[in-house]
Amino acid sequence: MGEFLYYASWWFGCKFAGRRRPLQSVIFITDRCNLHCAHCNVVKTGPNVTTMSYEQVREHLQYCYDLGSRIIDFEGGEPQLWRDETACDGAGADLNTLIALAREIGFFSITVTTNAQLPITADSDLVWISLDGLQEAHDEQRGKGTFERALENIAACDHPNLNVNMVVTNRNYQDFEAVAQLVKDNPRLNRFSFSFYLPYESRDLLPSSKQRGAVIDTALALKKAGYPLMNSLAGLKLLRDPQLFIDKKQCWISNFIQSDGTRIPTCPGEPAGICADCGFGMGAEMALLFKLNPSMVKAGLTVRSSK
Ligand SMILES: C[S@@+](CC[C@H](N)C(=O)[O-])C[C@H]1O[C@@H](n2cnc3c(N)ncnc32)[C@H](O)[C@@H]1O
Ligand code: SF4
Repeated sequence: MGEFLYYASWWFGCKFAGRRRPLQSVIFITDRCNLHCAHCNVVKTGPNVTTMSYEQVREHLQYCYDLGSRIIDFEGGEPQLWRDETACDGAGADLNTLIALAREIGFFSITVTTNAQLPITADSDLVWISLDGLQEAHDEQRGKGTFERALENIAACDHPNLNVNMVVTNRNYQDFEAVAQLVKDNPRLNRFSFSFYLPYESRDLLPSSKQRGAVIDTALALKKAGYPLMNSLAGLKLLRDPQLFIDKKQCWISNFIQSDGTRIPTCPGEPAGICADCGFGMGAEMALLFKLNPSMVKAGLTVRSSK
């Protein structure tokens, strides 16, 4: 079945037959990282680090595909660090081996999210690069020199679909417009997306509702002015206040596989009990997907194509 027909049948099945099949799967292939960001709730160090083997990733990919998922996001830790030297009869495997495997299984679209501290070599359909402000704020959140290195690696990369994701905290929210401008002005970058900090481990970096409202107002104005903001207009309005979509949320549309193999059939924010503070841009978009909101469908279709 072609992509469009598959998505249409998925939607009808969910909407009218009450099926609950994920469309997107997020797979944390390692929680090892070359950074240790202030806001990160994933990264582990020392003996606590878990990395999946090639075989484990293969099993999880097949499981997600069999559930009905057709979009894969490889996450970490830092996914570009992932290796399994013993895989493929001793030939070894890296992130691009996993991307090829996902295509072979039949996924329609493959995404990688990276901190861009290494040359960006991922051969995915779409790459998300984390930029959490201009130099000062980004480096405060992610470590000294990380902003400059990310920009160097963006400049040296010829991937046709590089995009930026910003996690907005109470320390970097003033840089929101400047990051949108940076993306607009950089010919290597396509689109800009953002989420608010999710308080999994502490509330220290959580933006106040006033700061959150100011960012949403700026985002709405930039979107209307033609800035390449991925979040849809309707999604932005919902993201202003999680109470607006908490009873409409459809967080089962993405399932998550943690690096230790734990399979979570919904956004991990739900079992963690943080939905009342949801700032996950995708969370709002998923609620709209279910309603087939036109601005969300347009945003979803354009982000998967290059500029
Ligand atoms: C966990 S990282 C893994 C990929 C890569 N290492 C990177 O930094 O882009 C994936 C995304 O999750 C975001 N993230 C990490 N902790 C978060 C939190 N507590 N709230 C919201 N986003 C978070 C990161 O900023 C990044 O955009
Ligand atoms: S680079 Fe990514 S995974 Fe690593 S600590 Fe930062 S947010 Fe977490």
